Amino acid sequence: MMMTTMQDLTIGFIGLGKMNGAILQGLLHAKIKPDKFWGVASSTEDAQKKTDEFGIRVYGPKEYAKELSKTDFIFLGIKPHKVANTLLTFKQQMALVPIKKGLTLVSIAAGVELETLQKMLEIPLPMMRVMPNLGVAVGHGVSTVCGNALVDEGQQKALITLLKKLGCCEQLPESLFDAATGLVGSGPAYVLLIIEAMIDAAVHAGISRATAKQMVPQLLIGTSLLLEQSGMHPAQLRDDVVTPAGTTAEGLSVLEAAGVRSAIDEALQASIARAKALG
Ligand SMILES: NC(=O)c1ccc[n+]([C@@H]2O[C@H](COP(=O)([O-])OP(=O)(O)OC[C@H]3O[C@@H](n4cnc5c(N)ncnc54)[C@H](OP(=O)(O)O)[C@@H]3O)[C@@H](O)[C@H]2O)c1
Repeated sequence: MMMTTMQDLTIGFIGLGKMNGAILQGLLHAKIKPDKFWGVASSTEDAQKKTDEFGIRVYGPKEYAKELSKTDFIFLGIKPHKVANTLLTFKQQMALVPIKKGLTLVSIAAGVELETLQKMLEIPLPMMRVMPNLGVAVGHGVSTVCGNALVDEGQQKALITLLKKLGCCEQLPESLFDAATGLVGSGPAYVLLIIEAMIDAAVHAGISRATAKQMVPQLLIGTSLLLEQSGMHPAQLRDDVVTPAGTTAEGLSVLEAAGVRSAIDEALQASIARAKALG
C-alpha cells in the first residue's frame, strides 16, 4: 500500500463500545474528518444511537458490505468471546463486494492471537493486533502493535502514525502481547489506586477532598512530563529532590519498607498471568 495521509484513510469500527469508542473519540479530537469513519453496532436500533453519539455512519451488524470497497483499516473492538461469530459475518460481508486492496483488520481483542484470527476468518487478509488503553480518547493513550506476514510496510506505518495521534505507540512482538495487556491495559487501574490513596492521605492530613482531587492528578501529570522531557532515569530525578534527612527521604523509606516496589512487580506479573490464562 502506498503511504497515504491520515486524512485519506477510511476507517471502520466493528463494535463501538468503550475501547473502539475511545479510539474514535481520540481520532475525532485529532481533527481527522468524520466522513472517513463508519461503524457497526450490535443491532440496527443501537446503530441509530451510536450515529447520534459519534456523528458518523453506523450500520447494523450485517449491513456494512458497501463500505469494504473503500476502507483501509477496520478496528475489531468486540469482546473476545464474540470474535468468532463477528468474523463469520465479516467474511460474508466481504464476499458481497470487491474489497479495497490492502484492507487490514486491526483487532484490539485481548488474548486473541493473529493465527487464531486467521483460522477463524479462513481467508488470507492483512491483520494487525493493537493493545490500546482508554487514554487514547484524550490523546495520551499507550498502544502496542504487531502484524501478520501479509501486512506491508506502508500499512504498518500508516497504522502506527494513526495511533501516534492518540498518544504513544510501540511495536512489540506478539509474544509480548500478554505482557502489554498487563502493563497497558491494567496499568491505568494501578495508577488510579495510587491517586486514590494519595487523595485519602491528603484528606487525613487536613486538606479538603475537593482540593486534593485537583492537586493529586496534577502531581502525576507534572512528574510524568518532567521525566519525559528531561530524559532522566526516574531514580536520578528522584535523587535530585531528596534532601538528606528531609521530609521526602522519610516518606520514601516508609514506602520501601512497605514493599511498594515489589507489590507493583507482583501485581503486574499477576495481571500478565491472568491475561495468558484468558487467552
Ligand atoms: N476496555 C478496555 O480498556 C480495553 C483495553 C484494551 C483492549 N480491549 C479489548 O477491546 C474489546 C472491546 O472491549 P470493550 O471494553 O470496548 O467492550 P464493550 O464496551 O462491551 O464494547 C463492545 C461493543 O461491541 C458491540 N458488539 C457486539 N457484537 C457485535 C457485532 N457482531 N457487531 C458490532 N458490534 C458488536 C457490543 O454491543 P452489545 O453490548 O449490544 O453486545 C458493544 O457495544 C475487547 O476484546 C477487549 O479485550 C478493551
